[in-house]
Amino acid sequence: MDQNLARTYDYEVIKKFSIAAVIYAVVGFLVGVIIALELTFPELNANIPYITFGRLRPLHTSAVIFAFGGSVLFACSYYIVQRTCKARLFSDFLSNFTFWGWNLVVVLVVITYPLGITQGKEYAEPIWPIDLLITVVWVAYFINFVGTLARRKEPHIYVANWFLLSFIITVAILHITNNLAIPVSLTDSYPVWAGVQDAMIQWWYGHNAVGFFLTAAFLGLMYYFVPKQAERPVYSYRLSIVHFWALCFMYIWAGPHHLHYTALPDWASTLGATFSIMLLLPSWGGMINGIMTLSGAWHKLRTDPILRFFIVSLSFYGMSTFEGPMMSIKAVNALSHYTDWTVGHVHSGALGWVAMVSFACLYHMMPRLWNTQLYSLRLVNVHFWLATIGVVIYIVPMWISGIMQGLMWRAYDSFGNLSYSFAETVAAMHPYYLFRAIGGIVFLVGALVMVYNIAKTIAGANQNPAKAV
Ligand code: HEM
Ligand code: HEM
Repeated sequence: MDQNLARTYDYEVIKKFSIAAVIYAVVGFLVGVIIALELTFPELNANIPYITFGRLRPLHTSAVIFAFGGSVLFACSYYIVQRTCKARLFSDFLSNFTFWGWNLVVVLVVITYPLGITQGKEYAEPIWPIDLLITVVWVAYFINFVGTLARRKEPHIYVANWFLLSFIITVAILHITNNLAIPVSLTDSYPVWAGVQDAMIQWWYGHNAVGFFLTAAFLGLMYYFVPKQAERPVYSYRLSIVHFWALCFMYIWAGPHHLHYTALPDWASTLGATFSIMLLLPSWGGMINGIMTLSGAWHKLRTDPILRFFIVSLSFYGMSTFEGPMMSIKAVNALSHYTDWTVGHVHSGALGWVAMVSFACLYHMMPRLWNTQLYSLRLVNVHFWLATIGVVIYIVPMWISGIMQGLMWRAYDSFGNLSYSFAETVAAMHPYYLFRAIGGIVFLVGALVMVYNIAKTIAGANQNPAKAV
């Protein structure tokens, strides 16, 4: 292998994934706004089956998690692994294959879900032929990533790569195990798991999709980009290693907290809750490590909106990883389960942590990819405030409506009859759903500001060369 070539990074595939991420962000948030409005004004679905809530909801979750989040992770992991290993990506063919393969998956999902063609497993809705394609793309990703690590010019493997590798391996295992099925036609299959085992495997998958896709992988990005943006070393490298092993070990056991008070054996549900509570420690260790990386550079927060995105995202990460362990306690879950409290928790993690940290990474990385400067830092600041205000307008009403919902469902009168009919509890949610939709619209407008800023950055790349990369 030519040494010079090995030092020339492959930025083309990263550029493509970054642009895809920005587009999918807008599409995913837009579908989120549409379903939020449908919950507020159900007549909006106009009786057209393709755009009913039930069909668009999985489209929203897949668009934001896998299309947007996935593209951010592909882009940033390819960037980080090359720069920390001082080596070009293992194979140009595999890089392109992962890009086109992943986008083909997205296209197939966009076609099948509105038609109602899914296997009905949350966050794992694609039918078996699409699952096979995902597996092939993922194996290509694994080979490309590990191959790059293997040809590194640096003796040490930086901790961000540990997080990313654990994400790639664990997601492969989860995806394959949860989707083991016997096909009976092109669109239908039967899972090999039955009954409560199927539920357990599904939530072992579901929880660790959160743990490794939405958490470990983004923590990997945090460990690379926060020190870069702050121009400070990681607060404690030792803590990052302890954080890594503790997080990986504990996440994998916590899935049963999604199945409290079901046919799952009580001991399994208690085990899940126990590990969930312990998870608070590594989660907060990581958050503190990220935030404290700013020691001695706090003043930069006043002038650098990208750094502000990072710090606020870490704060939301801390908040949702405090809330999650609380919700896993059986007595709390008896109130929160099935209510909007869960949806509030999800979006404080998803909007506050995942989306915000992604924006920060894209703002840091994209000008460097095009060897230019950001078109406007002021617009990044506008985006920062729209995103922060949008998240708050989204999650606060969800907490109120969730707790209200839970309390109304369990309220009895003096004769032991339920105080409220289900329809009454639905009607009581209306104002909160309206606020949630408004919060979503504000968040979406912020994303549109980002699209404009990034488009101008790329368009002006030749006239506005970077000062330093
Ligand atoms: C403008 C932004 C967004 C809006 C308006 C929005 C809106 C919604 C709505 C209305 C639901 C259905 C809630 C229900 O079933 O009661 C939902 C579910 C969900 N969304 Fe979003 N969303 C947004 C962004 C995101 C992002 C960025 C992510 C992830 C990175 C995300 C992940 C999810 C997940 C995982 C669920 C399923 C929650 C559950 O099953 O409890 N959303 N979203
Ligand atoms: C220590 C960390 C965390 C713990 C222990 C935890 C725990 C929980 C619990 C107990 C539930 C409710 C289960 C139910 O009643 O059905 C839940 C739901 C959920 N959490 Fe977390 N959480 C954590 C962090 C996060 C983060 C950071 C995110 C997002 C980035 C997230 C995303 C979700 C999602 C998507 C669901 C909804 C799943 C569904 O029912 O569709 N969680 N979590």
